[in-house]
Amino acid sequence: MLSKKMEDALNEQINAEFYSAYLYVSMGAYFRSIRLNGFAVWMETQSKEEEEHAKKIYDYVNKRNSRVMLKLIKEPPIEWKSPLDVFEATYVHEQEVTKSIERLINLSEREKDYAAASFLQWFIDEQVEEEYSVLQILERLRMVKDSNQGLLMLDAELGKRGKD
Ligand code: FEO
Repeated sequence: MLSKKMEDALNEQINAEFYSAYLYVSMGAYFRSIRLNGFAVWMETQSKEEEEHAKKIYDYVNKRNSRVMLKLIKEPPIEWKSPLDVFEATYVHEQEVTKSIERLINLSEREKDYAAASFLQWFIDEQVEEEYSVLQILERLRMVKDSNQGLLMLDAELGKRGKD
Protein backbone atom coordinates (compact mmCIF):
# COMPACT_ATOMS: atom_id res chain seq x y z
CA MET A 1 0.00 0.00 0.00
CA LEU A 2 1.14 3.55 -0.70
CA SER A 3 1.65 6.01 2.14
CA LYS A 4 -1.06 8.67 2.32
CA LYS A 5 1.44 11.31 1.13
CA MET A 6 2.49 9.17 -1.84
CA GLU A 7 -1.13 8.34 -2.68
CA ASP A 8 -2.07 12.05 -2.64
CA ALA A 9 0.95 13.03 -4.71
CA LEU A 10 0.26 10.37 -7.35
CA ASN A 11 -3.36 11.49 -7.50
CA GLU A 12 -2.11 15.05 -8.09
CA GLN A 13 0.03 13.73 -10.91
CA ILE A 14 -2.93 11.92 -12.49
CA ASN A 15 -4.68 15.30 -12.48
CA ALA A 16 -1.62 17.01 -13.97
CA GLU A 17 -1.41 14.42 -16.76
CA PHE A 18 -5.09 14.85 -17.58
CA TYR A 19 -4.55 18.62 -17.57
CA SER A 20 -1.68 18.13 -20.04
CA ALA A 21 -4.02 16.09 -22.24
CA TYR A 22 -6.62 18.86 -22.00
CA LEU A 23 -4.05 21.58 -22.72
CA TYR A 24 -2.72 19.78 -25.80
CA VAL A 25 -6.14 19.09 -27.22
CA SER A 26 -6.92 22.79 -26.72
CA MET A 27 -3.74 23.63 -28.62
CA GLY A 28 -4.87 21.16 -31.30
CA ALA A 29 -8.18 23.01 -31.57
CA TYR A 30 -6.29 26.30 -31.91
CA PHE A 31 -4.24 24.83 -34.79
CA ARG A 32 -7.43 23.50 -36.43
CA SER A 33 -8.88 27.04 -36.20
CA ILE A 34 -5.93 28.50 -38.12
CA ARG A 35 -5.93 25.59 -40.61
CA LEU A 36 -2.58 24.16 -39.59
CA ASN A 37 -3.94 20.64 -39.47
CA GLY A 38 -0.54 18.93 -39.29
CA PHE A 39 0.31 20.83 -36.11
CA ALA A 40 -3.16 19.89 -34.86
CA VAL A 41 -2.51 16.18 -35.49
CA TRP A 42 0.77 16.44 -33.56
CA MET A 43 -0.99 18.04 -30.59
CA GLU A 44 -3.93 15.61 -30.67
CA THR A 45 -1.50 12.68 -30.68
CA GLN A 46 0.39 14.27 -27.79
CA SER A 47 -2.87 14.64 -25.92
CA LYS A 48 -3.53 10.89 -26.26
CA GLU A 49 -0.07 10.15 -24.88
CA GLU A 50 -0.82 12.31 -21.86
CA GLU A 51 -4.02 10.33 -21.25
CA GLU A 52 -1.89 7.19 -21.36
CA HIS A 53 0.46 8.69 -18.76
CA ALA A 54 -2.54 9.37 -16.50
CA LYS A 55 -3.77 5.80 -17.08
CA LYS A 56 -0.34 4.36 -16.22
CA ILE A 57 -0.42 6.10 -12.83
CA TYR A 58 -4.08 5.11 -12.36
CA ASP A 59 -3.12 1.43 -12.86
CA TYR A 60 -0.16 1.79 -10.53
CA VAL A 61 -2.14 3.34 -7.68
CA ASN A 62 -4.66 0.50 -7.97
CA LYS A 63 -1.92 -2.11 -8.10
CA ARG A 64 -0.51 -0.70 -4.85
CA ASN A 65 -3.87 -1.33 -3.23
CA SER A 66 -4.51 2.40 -2.88
CA ARG A 67 -7.24 4.73 -4.03
CA VAL A 68 -7.50 6.80 -7.21
CA MET A 69 -9.33 10.05 -6.41
CA LEU A 70 -10.03 12.19 -9.44
CA LYS A 71 -10.15 15.95 -9.11
CA LEU A 72 -11.38 18.86 -11.12
CA ILE A 73 -9.29 19.50 -14.24
CA LYS A 74 -8.58 23.20 -14.62
CA GLU A 75 -9.57 25.03 -17.78
CA PRO A 76 -6.77 25.32 -20.34
CA PRO A 77 -6.06 28.48 -22.36
CA ILE A 78 -7.81 28.52 -25.73
CA GLU A 79 -5.92 31.20 -27.65
CA TRP A 80 -2.28 31.76 -28.51
CA LYS A 81 -0.57 34.47 -30.53
CA SER A 82 1.14 32.15 -33.02
CA PRO A 83 2.43 28.59 -33.51
CA LEU A 84 5.70 29.77 -31.95
CA ASP A 85 3.79 31.03 -28.92
CA VAL A 86 2.14 27.58 -28.59
CA PHE A 87 5.44 25.75 -28.63
CA GLU A 88 7.08 28.21 -26.22
CA ALA A 89 4.19 27.45 -23.83
CA THR A 90 4.49 23.70 -24.47
CA TYR A 91 8.19 23.72 -23.68
CA VAL A 92 7.63 25.62 -20.42
CA HIS A 93 4.80 23.21 -19.56
CA GLU A 94 6.91 20.10 -20.14
CA GLN A 95 9.69 21.54 -17.98
CA GLU A 96 7.15 22.03 -15.20
CA VAL A 97 5.99 18.42 -15.62
CA THR A 98 9.61 17.28 -15.31
CA LYS A 99 9.90 19.22 -12.05
CA SER A 100 6.75 17.62 -10.68
CA ILE A 101 8.06 14.14 -11.53
CA GLU A 102 11.32 15.02 -9.80
CA ARG A 103 9.36 16.12 -6.72
CA LEU A 104 7.55 12.76 -6.77
CA ILE A 105 10.84 10.89 -6.93
CA ASN A 106 12.15 12.96 -4.01
CA LEU A 107 9.04 12.11 -2.04
CA SER A 108 9.34 8.39 -2.84
CA GLU A 109 12.92 8.51 -1.53
CA ARG A 110 11.89 10.33 1.63
CA GLU A 111 9.12 7.77 2.17
CA LYS A 112 11.57 4.95 1.40
CA ASP A 113 9.10 3.73 -1.24
CA TYR A 114 11.63 2.16 -3.59
CA ALA A 115 8.93 0.53 -5.71
CA ALA A 116 7.38 3.94 -6.45
CA ALA A 117 10.84 5.38 -7.18
CA SER A 118 11.39 2.58 -9.69
CA PHE A 119 7.95 3.10 -11.26
CA LEU A 120 8.64 6.84 -11.62
CA GLN A 121 11.90 6.26 -13.44
CA TRP A 122 9.93 5.59 -16.64
CA PHE A 123 8.36 9.03 -16.36
CA ILE A 124 11.66 10.82 -15.84
CA ASP A 125 13.08 9.11 -18.95
CA GLU A 126 9.93 9.99 -20.87
CA GLN A 127 10.36 13.65 -19.89
CA VAL A 128 13.81 13.70 -21.49
CA GLU A 129 12.20 12.54 -24.75
CA GLU A 130 9.28 14.95 -24.49
CA GLU A 131 11.40 18.01 -23.74
CA TYR A 132 13.71 17.06 -26.60
CA SER A 133 10.96 16.61 -29.21
CA VAL A 134 9.21 19.86 -28.21
CA LEU A 135 12.50 21.76 -28.31
CA GLN A 136 13.23 20.45 -31.84
CA ILE A 137 9.95 21.88 -33.09
CA LEU A 138 10.38 25.10 -31.12
CA GLU A 139 13.82 25.74 -32.58
CA ARG A 140 12.60 25.09 -36.10
CA LEU A 141 9.71 27.50 -35.55
CA ARG A 142 12.25 30.10 -34.44
CA MET A 143 14.14 29.52 -37.73
CA VAL A 144 10.96 29.74 -39.82
CA LYS A 145 9.97 33.08 -38.22
CA ASP A 146 7.26 34.64 -40.40
CA SER A 147 7.73 32.46 -43.47
CA ASN A 148 4.40 30.90 -44.45
CA GLN A 149 6.22 28.48 -46.70
CA GLY A 150 8.41 27.28 -43.85
CA LEU A 151 5.37 26.93 -41.61
CA LEU A 152 3.49 24.87 -44.21
CA MET A 153 6.48 22.57 -44.68
CA LEU A 154 6.69 22.00 -40.94
CA ASP A 155 2.91 21.47 -40.85
CA ALA A 156 3.15 18.73 -43.49
CA GLU A 157 5.91 17.02 -41.55
CA LEU A 158 4.21 17.17 -38.15
CA GLY A 159 1.00 15.80 -39.68
CA LYS A 160 2.79 12.49 -40.23
CA ARG A 161 2.92 11.86 -36.48
CA GLY A 162 1.06 8.76 -35.51
CA LYS A 163 1.12 7.51 -39.10
CA ASP A 164 4.63 6.02 -38.99
FE1 FEO B 1 3.01 13.36 -19.35
FE2 FEO B 1 4.13 15.49 -21.36
O1 FEO B 1 4.24 14.62 -19.72
